[in-house]
Amino acid sequence: MPHLDTIGPNKLPITLHSGEGALLWDTGGRTYWDFYGGHAVTILGQGHPTWVAAIEQQARQLSFFTQLADVAIRTKAADSVCAFTKMHTCWFVNSGAEANEAALKMARKATGRSVIVAMEKGFHGRTMGALGVTWKYRDQHAPAHGTTRFVPYGDIDALKEALTDDVAAIICEPMLGISGIVEPPAGFLKQAVDLAHANGSVFIADEIQSGMGRTGLPLETHRENLAVDIVSVGKSIGAGFPVAAVLMTEAIAQTVSPGEHGTTYGGGPLACAAVQATLDVLEKEGLMAKATTLGTVMRNTLIELDGVVAVRGAGAWIGCVLDRPARPVVDALRDQGFLVGTAGDPHVLRLAPPAVMPEYAVHLLADAMRGVLSAS
Ligand SMILES: Cc1ncc(COP(=O)(O)O)c(C=O)c1O
Repeated sequence: MPHLDTIGPNKLPITLHSGEGALLWDTGGRTYWDFYGGHAVTILGQGHPTWVAAIEQQARQLSFFTQLADVAIRTKAADSVCAFTKMHTCWFVNSGAEANEAALKMARKATGRSVIVAMEKGFHGRTMGALGVTWKYRDQHAPAHGTTRFVPYGDIDALKEALTDDVAAIICEPMLGISGIVEPPAGFLKQAVDLAHANGSVFIADEIQSGMGRTGLPLETHRENLAVDIVSVGKSIGAGFPVAAVLMTEAIAQTVSPGEHGTTYGGGPLACAAVQATLDVLEKEGLMAKATTLGTVMRNTLIELDGVVAVRGAGAWIGCVLDRPARPVVDALRDQGFLVGTAGDPHVLRLAPPAVMPEYAVHLLADAMRGVLSAS
C-alpha cells in the first residue's frame, strides 16, 4: 500500500470519495452522516461554498509566501482570531502537535524552567515534545524537554503537590477529548489556572479539539473566563485546511526572541484564507449557536436510549457512554450510514459533527442506535 497505514485494525473499511455539508459518499456511492466530523475538524461541513471560494480566490491572488514578509490575509486572519478568542497574539503553524511544541517551548523560555505538569489520559499530539506530555505514550518515549509530571485529571490536591518551583507549565485540555469527552470536576480548571500563576508557572490550554466554536463558544475556556497564558488551537480553526495556532498573552509574546521559532508553511496565505472564511461563516451563519443547540438535542435524545448510561460534553462535541463496548456499535452504525468515533475509553462513542448537521439527522442516528443497541 503506497500510503503508510498508521491506523491498523481501527481503519474504516470504506474509501471516501466526496462530501457536501454533513454528508459523505464512498466510492461505492453509499451515503454517510458524518458524526465524526473528519476527526472533529470539519466544523463547516464539507465544501462550504464561502470557504471554497476564499481558498480559490487566495490561490489566484497570492498562493504562497512565508513569514519573512507580511501578507495581508495573514495579518487579517491573526487579527480576527485574536478578536474572536480574546487573546493578544496569534502565531500560525500547521498542525495541533506543532502548536503544542511551540507552546511548551514558549513556556520554558518565559519561565526559565523545564518541568511540565500534564494530565493523566490527556492527549497533545505525536511529535517528540507533544508525545512527552501525552499520557498514552509515557512509557514509549522519554519527554524531550526533561521531566513530565502526570497528575490525575481533576485531582486538585495532586496538582498542588506536583507544582514545585521548577515547573514551567501545566498543559491541560478543558475536557479530555481523545479520552472520551471527559468533563473536569466543577471549579478544577479555575483552581488549576490560579495555582499555576501562584507558582510562577504558565497555564497552557490545549483547545485543539475543543476550541474555535466546537463547544458553542470561541474557546471552551471562555465558559469560566479562565485567564490562560497560552492556548493551542487547531482542527476547527481551518475547517479542514491544515492550520493551527498558538494564541498567547502579551507577556508571553514579549518573551519570544527573533529567530527563536519559525515555520516555512505556517500562516501561509491559503491557510489564512481558510481561517478567515471559517470565522466569517461561523459568525454569519450563527454556527456557534447551532452547535449549542445540536449539543442539547444530542444530549437529550441519546440519553433516552437503553444502553446509554451517560452523555457528556458541550455543543457539537459529545461523548456518549454505553453500557457495553463501543466498537461493535460504531461498526454497526457505519453499516447503516452513520460515522461516529471511538475514544480512549472503550465504552464511549465520540461525536464531533459539523455544526451544520441538521437536527433531524440526530433523530435518524438515535433511531439507528436504538436498533443496534437492542440487537446487541
Ligand atoms: C487535544 C489535542 N491536542 C493535540 C492534538 C494533535 O493535533 P494534530 O493531530 O493536528 O497534530 C489533537 C489531535 O487529535 C488533540 O485532540
